[in-house]
Amino acid sequence: MENFQVTMGHIEGVPLPGPTCDEWDTIYNFQAREDDILIATYPKSGTTWMQEIVDLILQEGDVQKSMRAPCFIKVPFIEMIPPKSMPSGLELAKTMKSPRILKTHLPINLLPPSFWEKNAKVVYVARNAKDCMVSYYYFHKMNTFLLDPGTWDNFFSEFLSGDVPWGSWFDHVLGWWKAMDKHQILFIFYEDMIEDPMWEIRKVMKFLGKDLSDEALENVKYHSSFQAMKENPMTNNSTVPNSIMDDTISPFMRKGIVGDWKTHFSVTQNFIFDEEYKKKMEGSGLNFRTEL
Ligand code: PPS
Repeated sequence: MENFQVTMGHIEGVPLPGPTCDEWDTIYNFQAREDDILIATYPKSGTTWMQEIVDLILQEGDVQKSMRAPCFIKVPFIEMIPPKSMPSGLELAKTMKSPRILKTHLPINLLPPSFWEKNAKVVYVARNAKDCMVSYYYFHKMNTFLLDPGTWDNFFSEFLSGDVPWGSWFDHVLGWWKAMDKHQILFIFYEDMIEDPMWEIRKVMKFLGKDLSDEALENVKYHSSFQAMKENPMTNNSTVPNSIMDDTISPFMRKGIVGDWKTHFSVTQNFIFDEEYKKKMEGSGLNFRTEL
């Protein structure tokens, strides 16, 4: 793979990878189709999990079909501009047959407008910020596309102030939450998926207008479980070169639990976080569980 340097830029004040900023006009003019299914998330919220669930639903639970390609090929990441040796999400999406499943981490105000013009369906997955932060910290360590996060204390401050790629967790979830009555958005919580995966899978199935048999649904549930996805080379990102994601530092499929923040947050950090959370989220109607 060619050498590359990690750079960051900003679009409308939101920190984004440098190559994404360089190609921003093309990304913003992305042409959605009316039968696109967009999976939108703040990073580390269960994107890959939802990608697999949606794909398995479209494949009626047939794991062989869902294993046709690695998740980053079958679900193009629309704003990610990888090194030249890898296809970009934009290129992959253009040649893909409908219905396409697409991935974005963009905050709602930066989403290419064609998604709304075509009234495409969006599944938004939200995860409590504390666990997101921990997961993102390890992802920064193992992913050479992202800057070194420094110490945990350093990353804690950056995350809280929104000075991380894709910006503030608070702005992200609030922005998408408030748009639900205007667009076809299904809002799903990671914690609910952990607690009762079948219930959430059925919700997604209905939203997509599908009707799978109980047996097919059991297959969807089984093949999208953490253990199955951790072992599946098409979902565990082991096909991504180590020079991009170094699994020996931290696996992509790391823990997949609710409450890992408890082993990372100090008492003071927890207090600071809870105060900030109250200020930003009060009255929003959004309720996140940080333990089950
Ligand atoms: S990314 O890079 O932003 O697209 O990452 P994303 O897929 O959103 O989030 C990765 C975290 O989701 C966990 N994960 C799962 N948890 C439970 N069940 C399943 N099937 C599953 N698949 C992925 C993954 O382990 C990351 O969380 P952490 O806390 O780091 O383990």
